[in-house]
Amino acid sequence: MNTKQQIVYPKTMDTPVEQLSAEDAAIELRWLAAEIGKANIAYHRDDAPDISDAEYDTLKRRNASVEAAFPALKRADSPTDQVGAVVADGFGKVRHAVRMLSLSNAFDDDDIVDFDARIRRYLGLADDAPLQYTAEPKIDGLSLSLRYENGVLMQAATRGDGAVGENVTANAKTISDVPETLHGELDILEVRGEVYMSHDDFADLNKRQEAAGGKTFANPRNAAAGSLRQLDASITKSRPLRFFAYAWGQLSVPLADTQSGSIQRLAELGFTTNELTATCAGPAEMVARYGMIEKRRATLGYDIDGVVYKVDDLDLQRRLGFRSTTPRWAIAHKFPAELAWTTLDAIDIQVGRTGALSPVARLTPVTVGGVVVSNATLHNEDYIVGLGGDGQPIREGRDIRIGDWVQVYRAGDVIPKIKDVDLKRRPLDAKPYQFPDTCPQCGSDAVREEGDAVRRCTGGLICPAQAVEKLKHFVSRAAFDIEGLGAKQVEQFYADGWIETPADIFTLKERFGVGMQQLKNREGWGDKSANNLFDAIDNKRKISLHRLIFSLGIRHVGESAATTLANHYTSWVAFEDAMTNAEIGEGDIWDDLIGIDGVGAILATSVITTMQQDAERASIDRLVAQLDVQDAEAVATDSPVAGKTVVFTGTLEKMTRAEAKARAESLGAKVSGSVSAKTDILIAGPGAGSKATKAASLGVETIDEDAWLALIGDA
Ligand code: IVH
Repeated sequence: MNTKQQIVYPKTMDTPVEQLSAEDAAIELRWLAAEIGKANIAYHRDDAPDISDAEYDTLKRRNASVEAAFPALKRADSPTDQVGAVVADGFGKVRHAVRMLSLSNAFDDDDIVDFDARIRRYLGLADDAPLQYTAEPKIDGLSLSLRYENGVLMQAATRGDGAVGENVTANAKTISDVPETLHGELDILEVRGEVYMSHDDFADLNKRQEAAGGKTFANPRNAAAGSLRQLDASITKSRPLRFFAYAWGQLSVPLADTQSGSIQRLAELGFTTNELTATCAGPAEMVARYGMIEKRRATLGYDIDGVVYKVDDLDLQRRLGFRSTTPRWAIAHKFPAELAWTTLDAIDIQVGRTGALSPVARLTPVTVGGVVVSNATLHNEDYIVGLGGDGQPIREGRDIRIGDWVQVYRAGDVIPKIKDVDLKRRPLDAKPYQFPDTCPQCGSDAVREEGDAVRRCTGGLICPAQAVEKLKHFVSRAAFDIEGLGAKQVEQFYADGWIETPADIFTLKERFGVGMQQLKNREGWGDKSANNLFDAIDNKRKISLHRLIFSLGIRHVGESAATTLANHYTSWVAFEDAMTNAEIGEGDIWDDLIGIDGVGAILATSVITTMQQDAERASIDRLVAQLDVQDAEAVATDSPVAGKTVVFTGTLEKMTRAEAKARAESLGAKVSGSVSAKTDILIAGPGAGSKATKAASLGVETIDEDAWLALIGDA
């Protein structure tokens, strides 16, 4: 087995998204982008995954749900918009004629019912209109695109980042399931499918590798990926790879009218297709097929990790189209993750940036879904006692005690969780857990305010845990993002007493720069790295206003709120002047502040309180004195409808309402259901009624469907 990474999750990761503050959502999204990015590189580029697939899925799922709840916080580097990873050096690059996409995931039967309902809604199909799907195993390998020109295999490429993959033509030619020539009159045919290794071949390969003193592989998927991506094709040839065809890219002529017909055609052309592929009339049959395939899973002889459903009618597939990286017409129904029992050895309390005390279960390590788990979240003190967020009993009111046997799971959730506790195995001397009422880091009182599930340390800046977490936040990617000064260095410098607050970072050079003896004496630091660090710090003295506001780590102020505030006040002077003079709950400044779209009373109170708190404010002023803060600028737009509010009414003839809405939103427009003075364009089809009348009376521009399509360049 390769070594698996034990992930340290942001503390809010198990909070339902509806209860997440914008600040925590932004922190999570940033963390998720980094973590998923790392996992992508480990998996796709290095063939050495360091987290399990289930864990990866849950990270992606969490990311999607946080983005859905906070669309404004979606990052430019959002993992939702990326498939796979950067291509490895050494292979030539291939730009795919048609992007290679990924699949969105479903985890239970309800998700499949929703999938079908969503498609019907999008297409405007009645509940009882026939709608057929294909169901087939999801092969756990790596995808490959094979390009045939006039029946000859010209090029084979891995997925890479979806747009650009690696040229592995010589290697693909060594796979016996990949025909080199095809019979038929197709000018261009790109066949896509999965390269995988059977269980038997995998076991043999590892035996051979071991005997030869070579590297063994953790699982068949890694073995397949490592074997396909050999720079020396003769090595690939010695590895028994297989290929199932299940999709296509560019085609000069359609293969058939349906997905199932196309798969049949691929089989006739000489490709190996999966024998468990079948058509289903709807969710009930799909779910039944899933159950059947799951039963067969253990005896298939190769790894599968779920079942893929696709709309069978290709014309409907075309109408449904794609989201940024996944088709609307397909979904992967994943097999569930595992559960495991282990003992709870200790409960540690972590203290966060805002002083929140979070209990963490330390477990006797246990393998769950291929990953060794030794920590799990315990959320908060109520959770340990056996109470849920609504005050209702959870686990039938069973509390959790040190020494207990607990059941750990990692199904749809990112952080390992405790599902249950076995009272029959509880040690006789186990005592109810006493949640601390003082901070374990600084000894200050830890208080729980009314209505808050979280107990918080009241130590503020005197609490070392809060100070270090604040510093880590300060140097994080969306804040100052100082190269060479990450969480690890911040902890070290804080422990050494070199930096206590952000301002100290900018005086490091003046205090330690001459000779740099102290720094040079530290492990890992030499003249060059020290100089690089000082340069990196100097480079960040010039900082944009929104980054500065975000970096202060004010509770409830995430990236999005920081940007909103920066855009409103435009300069630091204006912002600090307003916050210094504001009164909570009254006055012009307060009214102006909470009048900003996206700023509510809780956020406003938090900002004012922080900016008026003496110690905090002194620390902020010392920081700003070191900086050259750049004023905020107006946001630029490009598409003709970006930023416009549009309303659709009447019958649309070329698309459904859902299709129209998705398209408009993808161009940056805001789609509203009702006409008001804020509406920029009304798109009115036949039968438009009161909305058109209202638009006319308000002088709102009204156009028909064709004019709209022409405007957005779709005519
Ligand atoms: S269809 C546009 N069908 O799963 C959709 N993918 O998680 C193209 N995979 O990148 C994919 N078995 O590597 C499809 N029967 C199957 C599959 C399958 C495995 C892989 C494929 C894809 C990934 C998405």
